[in-house]
Amino acid sequence: MRTYTNVKDLGDLKAAVKEALEVKANRYSYKALGTDKTLLMVFFNSSLRTRLSTQKAGMNLGMNTMVLDINQGAWKLETERGVIMDGDKPEHILEAIPVMGAYCDVIGVRAFAQFEDKAFDYSETILNQFIQYSGKPVFSMEAATGHPLQAFADLITIEEYKKKERPKVVLTWAPHPKALPQAVPNSFADFMNEADVDFVITHPEGYELSEQFVRGARVEYDQLKAFEGADFIYAKNWAAFNDPNYGKILSTDRSWTVSDRQMAVTNDARFMHCLPVRRNMIVTDEVIESPRSIVIPEAANREISAQVVIKRLLEAAQ
Ligand code: CP
Repeated sequence: MRTYTNVKDLGDLKAAVKEALEVKANRYSYKALGTDKTLLMVFFNSSLRTRLSTQKAGMNLGMNTMVLDINQGAWKLETERGVIMDGDKPEHILEAIPVMGAYCDVIGVRAFAQFEDKAFDYSETILNQFIQYSGKPVFSMEAATGHPLQAFADLITIEEYKKKERPKVVLTWAPHPKALPQAVPNSFADFMNEADVDFVITHPEGYELSEQFVRGARVEYDQLKAFEGADFIYAKNWAAFNDPNYGKILSTDRSWTVSDRQMAVTNDARFMHCLPVRRNMIVTDEVIESPRSIVIPEAANREISAQVVIKRLLEAAQ
């Protein structure tokens, strides 16, 4: 594996989950792999879980880890070619990336959708520039259109908590006061479409995700109907994808907030969310604090998904 940007990079998904469970049981057994190797984590956007879990994963593998926060202490970067750089950005990303690559062995990149230009976002311009110009293995720590470390951790968590061979998994939109990217639901759909689950997506009309990720999964506009008999509820907000509303909030309907009312029609479902979560917008206090909520073990598995990915990148570079 030379890059990690989507589910396909993992190859056999069952084998990847098996490897994750082995790594989880023996997370300090691979230190020789990363000794004298350096992990660089580049953040264009804020993070709690990704920053800590990925750094921990690197340390578990014996690596030195470095973190660079673009926009907070580093030079502001111009990302477009052809721009006359007479504004507030003193360095171009096309010099900055190979310089970063010179100091490390593996690079993780977080660069969210900017919602200014759909084509710029959906062609993963920034992540692909790192892949093209760093000369090093690159993995996504949430890019414009996907968050594959999160979705891999989600799948590991479902595997650990499922009570039946083929559980029903529902991805539900929920309201939020700010426009959020589609990266998490895109990657979750991408992974669930490859996994052995009965997958349903529910959202208000107008919030359809890109077909590239939905890939023919069942979409149900009636949230309660979608929740019936579900074993896992995965809540997330996202802004509209389709033109002319790309990046816009179309609804803040609080009847979509996941509460005991909707959970009552499920098969005693587990509640999942990638975090951070806005309580009583996305999910009520009662649901997220209930024994059915597995958001903490889900977040803990971010260390494991990151460790498997970095381990595979190191192995391929040997
Ligand atoms: N879920 C997730 O990626 O969390 P952070 O944004 O805090 O890294």
